[in-house]
Amino acid sequence: MTRYSRITGTGSFLPPDLVSNADLVERLAKQGVETSDEWIAGRTGIRVRHFAEPDVCSSDLGLQAAQRALQAAGLSPQDIDLIIVATSTPDMVFPSTACILQNKLGANGCPAFDVQAVCSGFIYALTVADAMIKTGAASRALVIGAEVFSRLLDFKDRTTCVLFGDGAGAVVLEASDTPGILASDLHADGQHVGILCVPGHVSGGLVTGEPMLRMDGQAVFRLAVGVLEETARAVLAKAGKTAADIDWLIPHQANLRIMHGTAKRLKISMEKMIVTVDQHGNTSAASIPLALDFAVRSGKVQKGQTLMLEGVGGGFTWGSVLLTY
Ligand code: ACO
Repeated sequence: MTRYSRITGTGSFLPPDLVSNADLVERLAKQGVETSDEWIAGRTGIRVRHFAEPDVCSSDLGLQAAQRALQAAGLSPQDIDLIIVATSTPDMVFPSTACILQNKLGANGCPAFDVQAVCSGFIYALTVADAMIKTGAASRALVIGAEVFSRLLDFKDRTTCVLFGDGAGAVVLEASDTPGILASDLHADGQHVGILCVPGHVSGGLVTGEPMLRMDGQAVFRLAVGVLEETARAVLAKAGKTAADIDWLIPHQANLRIMHGTAKRLKISMEKMIVTVDQHGNTSAASIPLALDFAVRSGKVQKGQTLMLEGVGGGFTWGSVLLTY
């Protein structure tokens, strides 16, 4: 019998500090940085984002999301035999955020590791978990996207600091006789490292370089729309499906204009797109599982429906997962 993997529970968590565009305008003005709600909402669709308190780490946000996903799946931490955390804002240089989260969760003993593919991280992590379940290496995985991107923001750079937020989302992925995940498609092109990066590292007890998010927004925009269409078509072809089969498109939530562009190219109605970027900003690897959990808990996504998850981010990385929920 073919072994598949299936999402059996979702969860998410947002830190309580809700920062509206108006709040951000006020905070930035104190530093002499000028922006406006009209510019932010008009160019990106973002209206509010959440920022974590200084002592809160990705593992803390991820833990809450994981506990909610476990509850939704009717499982306890001891039932889990694999933990993968997608993050670009780890608690420490090492050990992995997955190990730290595992200990907080009380699921000690199972394999736990991080995946670093920036905003495509959750798509990468879900694909790895699916592959491990299909080979029998795992049966019940927690796949988590957790970020505190606010830590990487240069609040003097208005072209980036208005775009991002903090949060976490998680799914429980279990072995199943029926699919489940139908197909995945992953890509990276390292020649574009420089258009979206945090060019700093730890050396000799110091942080060297520039440990702040730097982005060529227009280059990212141009690349993102093209690769999101390509990966969507590729994953549909692998699964023998067409865009008409998709009930819900759940893309990385970076910018409403990129999302509109993707929907238009794929000829998918915006009615079938899950949009949370207005409420969360860009939470990088957390954005897709956050949007998925919101769609599930709001009753939009129903059992048996076909979902396409799509990510794109620094690296440059991109990919998609097509699944029956
Ligand atoms: N408030 C007010 N004005 C601003 C702001 C701001 N926050 N930021 C930039 N501007 C100004 C610029 O200074 C410029 O002014 P000028 O014309 O006087 O020089 C003007 O707005 C236009 O700037 P552009 O950079 O050309 O604006 P653009 O239309 O390209 O929009 C944006 C910028 C929103 C960043 C866009 O390029 C974009 O969405 N890119 C994709 C970014 C993205 O999605 N990144 C994440 C994806 S991958 C990942 O998630 C990690």
